[in-house]
Amino acid sequence: MDLEQLSRLCEAVVEKEDWAELARRAEPPPALRLNARRGHHESEFGWTAKQARQRGEQALDEGKVGVLMTAGGQGSRLGFDRPKGLYPIGPVSGASLLQIHIEKIRAAARRHQKSIPLYLMNSPVTAEEQSAFLAENDYFGMTEKDIFLFCQGTMPVVDAVTGDLLLATKDTLFLSPDGHGGTVAALATSGAIESMRERGIEQLFYFQVDNPLVPICDAEFIGHHLKAKSELTSMAVAKKQPIDKVGNFVQIDRRLQIIEYSDFPADVAAQRTEDGALQFWAGSIAVHMFSVDFLERSLSLSGALPFHAARKKVTHLGEEGKVVQPNQPNALKFERFIFDLLPHAQNALVVEYAEEDCFAPLKNAPGAERDTAEYVQRFMIHQHHRWLQEAGIQVARDVAVEISPLWALDEREVARRATPGTAINQTTYLCEGVPRSA
Ligand code: UTP
Repeated sequence: MDLEQLSRLCEAVVEKEDWAELARRAEPPPALRLNARRGHHESEFGWTAKQARQRGEQALDEGKVGVLMTAGGQGSRLGFDRPKGLYPIGPVSGASLLQIHIEKIRAAARRHQKSIPLYLMNSPVTAEEQSAFLAENDYFGMTEKDIFLFCQGTMPVVDAVTGDLLLATKDTLFLSPDGHGGTVAALATSGAIESMRERGIEQLFYFQVDNPLVPICDAEFIGHHLKAKSELTSMAVAKKQPIDKVGNFVQIDRRLQIIEYSDFPADVAAQRTEDGALQFWAGSIAVHMFSVDFLERSLSLSGALPFHAARKKVTHLGEEGKVVQPNQPNALKFERFIFDLLPHAQNALVVEYAEEDCFAPLKNAPGAERDTAEYVQRFMIHQHHRWLQEAGIQVARDVAVEISPLWALDEREVARRATPGTAINQTTYLCEGVPRSA
């Protein structure tokens, strides 16, 4: 434990970045917008969406792409007593988040006839249960050698007023995972980067376990990243309101970066372009392409991933040896954020996707306005209805239909498999083998 670092972090809590000043200098990020992607013309970057897709397909055919999933979070808002990856989110199948992600990776690997390794990051909070769950389920059909499990680091949690270390039990400190930005250090110390080098993996598709809509290894996204010679490319969605609860992509001093919604001044967020659209339209959904070279280089960039302090309610053991259950935030947790790497990346860019095609994160317990299990399942069902209807299948309006990624990974695969003119009138799970009706 680096106590000096910890005391420096406690002292620095008050010295916050002047986000308002930064935001006032910001410009919109360099971006490939959805309209440009949907047209057949060259974008301002000099290539078409089709050319990007072909480039991405080539990288996948050559086996140069791996997948990096972070699944170390505590999932405190969800109120599920197991790691989030085990949550049975499939609206018909009850498949877990982990199963859905792994089936997408297997389906992409099958399509390109090349294995796609999964680097899966746990934390001490999730490692034991998540690893055991995968083993019990035979890694959901993925070859064991294609899954590299590794664990992120932790940071001590301190009292928000005194800076004292907190205890979890009489002989253990209260520790918490060091944030998704802990991925970079953990990739190096676990040997994951070495494994990527050995396997010839040059690019990584990064996402977080809680979003079952993520289009894992989307060839077009990979292609834009490669054609731009970008070290870090991010997927974005267009915000609906000036202050949506997502990070804002901005460009400051010709560097791409994210300003959290809570730090983004309302007047800047409300700025509009001449045609009435939001000037700062690009919301982050935590989906990125990283070049492995860049990840390795970022290890030596001192200060590239600073710690951020968050005030949280932490039940711990007090001085008298009794459990203290605060009703106000009483502690500081220190976390690193993976997106702090953005300003350090060469040719970083943003690619816009439609929200309904890529983003429905499971964050909250029932009753919240969004990002609950019910909200996520609604998105999943809508997406699958859309794919089937576009393929000429009639789907009764209120019927739940779920498609396993192994049956069809995207709308183009649905169009190939489906028989136009047929109808689905009852709850259905389309999966490998015979379609199952519930
Ligand atoms: P969140 O910040 O939403 O945290 O993480 P969370 O753990 O899912 O939920 P809350 O805030 O406690 O309710 C976004 C993603 O980053 C991963 C999580 O697993 C999640 O997929 N993450 C977060 C890590 O892998 N490690 C961390 O230390 C923090």
